[in-house]
Formats: sequence, C-alpha cells, structure tokens
Amino acid sequence: MQARIQQLANTYLPELISWRRHLHQNPELSYQEFETAAFVQDKLTAWNIPYQVMAGTGVIGLIKGNNPQKKVIALRADLDALPIQEENNTPYRSCKPGIMHACGHDAHTACLLGAAKILQETKDQWEGTVKLIFQPGEEKNPGGASLLIKEGVLENPRPDAIFALHVHTTLDTGKVSFRSGKVMASADEIYITIHGKGGHAASPQTAIDPILISAHLITTLQQMVSRRNDPFNPCVLSITSIQGGTTTNVIPDQVKLMGTFRALNEKWRFEAHQLIRETTEQLVASMGGQADLHIDIGYPCVVNEQNITSQAQQLARAFIGESNVSETEIRMGAEDFGFYGQKIPACFFRLGTRNTEKGINSGVHTSTFDVDESALEYGAGLLAWLAVAVLPT
Ligand code: NI
Repeated sequence: MQARIQQLANTYLPELISWRRHLHQNPELSYQEFETAAFVQDKLTAWNIPYQVMAGTGVIGLIKGNNPQKKVIALRADLDALPIQEENNTPYRSCKPGIMHACGHDAHTACLLGAAKILQETKDQWEGTVKLIFQPGEEKNPGGASLLIKEGVLENPRPDAIFALHVHTTLDTGKVSFRSGKVMASADEIYITIHGKGGHAASPQTAIDPILISAHLITTLQQMVSRRNDPFNPCVLSITSIQGGTTTNVIPDQVKLMGTFRALNEKWRFEAHQLIRETTEQLVASMGGQADLHIDIGYPCVVNEQNITSQAQQLARAFIGESNVSETEIRMGAEDFGFYGQKIPACFFRLGTRNTEKGINSGVHTSTFDVDESALEYGAGLLAWLAVAVLPT
C-alpha cells in the first residue's frame, strides 16, 4: 500500500503543481476564500467525494474505505493568503495586487487535494474513514479552526486523530520534521490606550504626559517576562506599535500601544494576562493617567500528541527515508491548528520546501517567499499514507 501511494503521488505531481500554481495566482484573504473553496469543491465533485460547506468557505469532504467504522482520521489544509504584494517574477506569481500566498497555504491545499485523489482511488484497499478539512481563515483571529469546531467539524463522525503539514523554509525539499509535545506558541493581541492630559510642552506640570507613561510601561512590562516568568518557560512580549503626539511643543492627550504575547504554557498564558492587566493599570495610575487595556485572545499552543506523532514519525521514515526525517524545532509562531489539538489527538508536522540551488529560500510571510514544488509529491503522499496507516488508540 505504501508503494502504491508513493507511485500515485509521483504520477500526480504535475497535477499537484498545476493546482498549486492556480491557487498561487488567485490568492484570497482570510474568510474570503470563495474561489478557492469553489476550486476545491470542483475537484471533490469530479472525484465523487461527498462534501459539505461549513463556516462560510470551509469545505469538509469524507472518504470511506473498507470497514469505515474502524477509525476516522482527519487531514487539514488551510485556504487563505496574506495581504502582501508579491515581488517574485515567476510565471505563476499572484494576479491579485496586494494579496499573496506567502505562507504556503496554496501548497497545503494542493497536497490535501492530492491526498484526497489518492485515497479515493485506493479506497477499496484501506480501512476506515478520512475526513478532509479545507479550512478558512488560518491567518486571522478567531481562526477558521475555532469556527469549524463550533459548527461541529469534529463530530459526525468524530476523528480519532488529525494531521496537518506546514511548508518549512529552513528544511530542504525531500525532508520532513516532527516533534511530540509543544511545537508552537499561543498568541494573543494586546491593545492599550493610555489617557493622560494634554498641554504645552513647556509646562509639563499642567499636563499628564502619556508619552513618558508609555516609556515606563513598555519597560516595566518586560519585567513580567524577565522577573515574573520561570526562565525555563519560554514566552515573548513584543510591543510593536506606539502612536501618540503630533509635534515638538504639545504634550498629547493619549498614546496607543499594540503588541503580542506568546507563551508555551496555557496556565502561565492566562496568569500573564492578569499580570499585564494589573501592571498596566497600576503603573499608569501611579503616574496620574488612566489605562484602557484589551487582550484579544488568539490561538492556543500547538501540542502534538505523543502516540500518533511517534507513529507518524516512524511511518514517515519508511516513506521518505530514515535520514530525511528529523526532529523539528519549537517556534514562538502560532497556528490555529492548536484548537484541534485541544479536542482530539493532533500532529502538526513540517514539510521541507527549501531549494537553495533553485534560489528558493525566502521565509514565510515575505514578498519573495516561494516553495520548491517537487515537495508537493511528498506532502500529498505522506498525508495519504498517514491517514491509511496510523492506528489511534
Ligand atoms: Ni501558515
């Protein structure tokens, strides 16, 4: 069965590339993936795979093999692109100004379509049910995964395990990487408005200076990371925007700050929110100002379940070669795939798409990002193989 899947993935590589290029040329922003969803639906219809539409632009397909009750494995791809102007000069560059598949979700969708085609074609040769989840809005809160889960994507039938891959720009084509446990951080957005009292810059005693308060607050908040947090517990607070004031001789009324907080521990994550809130309110008040703080709760940590991840790692070694499977690094980036892992055993792995000889080595979310398309064969094949071969407990 493994050899059959490998052979089909190889045969379908030209198609995988053409789908990926079509999607790359026609990117759509989060929750607006209408043409992308229609493209997926056309393919599933052509292959006689039943599907339903969920959360607006989500497409959920179902393939039943022999003995469909035996196990249910979900495979997930994300559909959305980013508000970036592509600077590549490839024949398949984005046709839409200011929108680009700069995180490889076009490749993810192509890989899942390829896996679907392979699984449908071989369905009399494997056991169980495979649920295909083509998901909207990975790049934007609240995350398409959370919407799909609310609409019941993990019920009827309930998957025993879920897999997703992500392109990886620091790993060469032909390689994949796995890790059990925590692999990506939670991410929450912080919005603070500091209200002071404006006045003449020459008479600071008549004003409450929100600029000075902001300077203290930004510094003090970092103590939460360096003094309150356990050093063995990675977390990041980045204040990424500060807006206030217009000229040299006026103290403004207010300053607005924005930032992100990332953690690898769900308990500390919410303790830290409380510390950020208390520190902000108390420090600003101590300097005579008043703070409004809003924390927009984003994605949870991505945690890979031990049993299915180690099975997947073993299966990948046989599929793609022992030396091509490595342990992946933990990153403080975030992924809404974490929502699935809170409900069912999940495994998020990385697909190498770097090819320095072809000049393909730009990072994700950059205007020169691209993927080495020969990796699509491994992505599609491995998704199909994991769905067939993994045995959840
Ligand atoms: Ni992504």
